[in-house]
Amino acid sequence: MRGVVTTPLQIAIDGPAASGKTTVARKLAARLHVLYLDTGAMYRALAFEALHTRTDADNEPALLHLCHDRAVRIALDAASPLGFRVFAGDQELDEQTLQSNEVTAIVSTIAKHPGVREAMVAEQRRIAGAGPVVMAGRDIGTVVLPSARVKIFLTASVAARVERRLAQYQASGVDVSTHQLSEEIEERDRLDRNRTVSPLVPAADAHEIDSSGMTADQVLDKICAIVEASR
Ligand code: DC
Repeated sequence: MRGVVTTPLQIAIDGPAASGKTTVARKLAARLHVLYLDTGAMYRALAFEALHTRTDADNEPALLHLCHDRAVRIALDAASPLGFRVFAGDQELDEQTLQSNEVTAIVSTIAKHPGVREAMVAEQRRIAGAGPVVMAGRDIGTVVLPSARVKIFLTASVAARVERRLAQYQASGVDVSTHQLSEEIEERDRLDRNRTVSPLVPAADAHEIDSSGMTADQVLDKICAIVEASR
């Protein structure tokens, strides 16, 4: 008798900055009792390490050197504050550091380099090999896990995203104005959507959800219904 090969449940949640991906992805992973990873934190950790080592964000060979030295490491740990642990060198990074203005200012530049993306994608796929997972990012459904059973593309108006990110920043003690935030989000949208490698686009088979005016729990219920229907 031939054994039945079952692929582990993989859920990709992609979308622009501050669309609510990470909040929803984490809640979804907890509800389904599966692994959770926000891949944006990996690019942010590399940006932090670049700042720390005075590596130019445009110097791809030097950034690749950091990647090959395993400067960024992830440990899956649902009980930790972020829902996983992220290290740059020996230092564990917290939400405030990852979301700092300095890191945010260079992270899209760091993320545009093809070699950097290749190294990150390889690591993300390795992590996904550990079991069923909910992974959030920009290219999860298109590149990292193209065979994911469920792909969600989460959007929201710029105004809704500014409001959410403002609340998030205030809660973690980062000082930022609405105007600054709105400009930053629009600029990151532009960079993420227009980069040559893996630009931010929905996968052809993604379910698009506009979360403007929805609470995280309403989005979560909608995604859970999609997951249920996919079984
Ligand atoms: O989701 P975030 O704001 O933490 O992402 C930080 C940056 O990393 C963002 O500018 C785009 C980039 N990113 C990416 O290119 N691919 C991913 N899978 C995740 C994030």
